[in-house]
Amino acid sequence: MRHIMVLNAKGGCGKSTIATNIAAYFVSEGASVALADYDPQRSSLDWLERRPESRPRIAGLAAFEDGLRHLPRSADIVVSDAPARSHGPELTDLVNHAETIVVPVLPSTIDMQATTSFLKELKDVGRVERKQVKIGALANRVRDNTLIFDDLDEYLTRARVPYIAALREAQNYVRAYTRGLGIFELPEYLAWPDWAEWEPLTAWLRSKRSQP
Ligand SMILES: Nc1ncnc2c1ncn2[C@@H]1O[C@H](COP(=O)(O)OP(=O)(O)O)[C@@H](O)[C@H]1O
Ligand SMILES: [Mg+2]
Repeated sequence: MRHIMVLNAKGGCGKSTIATNIAAYFVSEGASVALADYDPQRSSLDWLERRPESRPRIAGLAAFEDGLRHLPRSADIVVSDAPARSHGPELTDLVNHAETIVVPVLPSTIDMQATTSFLKELKDVGRVERKQVKIGALANRVRDNTLIFDDLDEYLTRARVPYIAALREAQNYVRAYTRGLGIFELPEYLAWPDWAEWEPLTAWLRSKRSQP
């Protein structure tokens, strides 16, 4: 079983958006997927409640209450949506489940600064020190031709973790969440630019590069 976690101590950077889309991507590829919501705000579980019956089913886990206790044995992939402000022992506990960590970062000075501290803290978690987990960073909600995106691009290029992909700011993410879908489940004529941007991320997730 693969365990992919979307994590950044900074709130609002897109953890739930990315987690739900990763879950929807793998289920549309035929995998058996569980989505574990570690955030009592329940954004991922709310998204699952919106998911139409006609779409391939994703198992939901209220992991903020009882961890992975109800994880179906049949699951090939667990995608975890982490809460903001995860630090110290709580962060260590969270990371103990993950083999792959995706860190979304917004084009904002506050977010880059917060991510620098977060990546420092993450580096000292035992499982990361022992190289039992692979970490990749993701630029999220970017707008081309903005100075702050250039800053984020440069920041992530120099960061201590690989820079996997950049996702634009798009209404498609809002639209997809509202309908309980991933962007891969939106019509091609609407979502093709986002599909193209996800290609490096899904390729990384499928490859050995994201697995310890
Ligand atoms: N690429 C994107 N384009 C447009 N809106 C986005 C994008 N990523 C996230 N959002 C929006 O930003 C807000 C915060 O995202 P969310 O996934 O809830 O972050 P987190 O889980 O880290 O708090 C939400 O309103 C979400 O719809
Ligand atoms: Mg969230």
